Amino acid sequence: MTLRLNTADPGFGVYVHWPFCASKCPYCDFNSHVRMGGVDEPRFAAAFAREIGHMAALAPGRTVTSIFLGGGTPSLMKPATVGGILDRIAAAWTIAPDAEITLEANPSSVEAERFAGYRAAGVNRVSLGVQAMNDRDLRALGRLHSAAEARRAIDIAAATFERFSFDLIYARPAQTPDAWRAELAEALELMRDHLSLYQLTIEEGTPFAGLHRAGKLAVPDPELADALYEITQELTEAAGIPAYEISNHARRGAESRHNLTYWRYGTYAGVGPGAHGRLVVDGVRRSMATERQPEAWLDAVERGGHGLIEDAALSPAEEADELLLMGLRLSEGIDLGRLAAIGGVRPAASVMARLEGLGLIARPAPDQIVVTRAGRFVLNELVLQLAASFERAMEMQTPQPV
Ligand SMILES: C[S@@+](CC[C@H](N)C(=O)[O-])C[C@H]1O[C@@H](n2cnc3c(N)ncnc32)[C@H](O)[C@@H]1O
Ligand code: SF4
Repeated sequence: MTLRLNTADPGFGVYVHWPFCASKCPYCDFNSHVRMGGVDEPRFAAAFAREIGHMAALAPGRTVTSIFLGGGTPSLMKPATVGGILDRIAAAWTIAPDAEITLEANPSSVEAERFAGYRAAGVNRVSLGVQAMNDRDLRALGRLHSAAEARRAIDIAAATFERFSFDLIYARPAQTPDAWRAELAEALELMRDHLSLYQLTIEEGTPFAGLHRAGKLAVPDPELADALYEITQELTEAAGIPAYEISNHARRGAESRHNLTYWRYGTYAGVGPGAHGRLVVDGVRRSMATERQPEAWLDAVERGGHGLIEDAALSPAEEADELLLMGLRLSEGIDLGRLAAIGGVRPAASVMARLEGLGLIARPAPDQIVVTRAGRFVLNELVLQLAASFERAMEMQTPQPV
């Protein structure tokens, strides 16, 4: 299904990264760390507050349309800590009355008991890391929760929040099409209107990568992975939650607004260890990233008010590449008029015609490019070919604020 392009303001988000987990999952290469001796939560909370102040001084007067507390495992934070972070954001900028405020949560029973506290603190959406619906696969993924705990956490989320989502990882070792079909069917019964369904990626440097190299962890071959992907599309479409992004499925209107801000190339502040941001400062979009190591980040913020280790102006050409890379992940695709306005470029007509002829992209409207289902399998190559063909567009404007 092709979505109409949304040309509204893509919004201003705030991402807050909590970098700690109760244990490290063997497939995960996110910036997440285990601290056996515990974490000084008030000290980190004070540092978050300072860095929020720094970002707001760089990009003052914005209206926040979404906040995402991600990790790591932010549901290890006390509700009062989350409340303090949200209050600080509200003091730094204006929070839109209908802002989406998401907290990523692991579905252990201890964490699910905190959901009411998070709601009272201002969170209005949770995203649960369920990953698998049976105990054998949860153990194989190194997860601490059971399938029964995951179901219970989904129930509590459904009773506590108007909006919630959960994540599953598929294309797992030894997963058959029939098993995935049954598991996804159960997930579709339990969900409300949004699911994130990720194919297992073997990330370099993780224990899974070592096992895979040693021949001790077999993942589905490309043919089986494609079959599992097709089952995912078939069942989610039948349930009314087609993909609006490669791995994200929702009923129309229930998409994650925060993630849409990334993919529609809006602006966002990144706060916390290893957070990325794209802020427009004095009319120029900047690429920002903070120190990843939690204690080094804490030290930097306590000394200088922020943990930024990267803060560079993006050229229009770099913005064009980023807009293309992010936007083609979406079912609605990209708007060539916006690409021209921001980056001053347009893909060569001959290249667009060739890719369209091959059935890899479609042009539902003269100014719209979307990637077809066949194109999704070669998305990176499409991005490379389109970007390599960029020509100067007539519509180049002065850089846009969003
Ligand atoms: C940053 S994680 C944080 C969520 C939370 N800590 C948890 O694990 O439940 C966000 C999601 O990325 C997905 N993910 C992480 N590593 C992955 C991998 N190697 N392959 C596929 N999905 C992965 C998982 O579904 C996870 O819920
Ligand atoms: S709980 Fe989530 S963030 Fe933490 S290690 Fe596991 S997958 Fe990564």
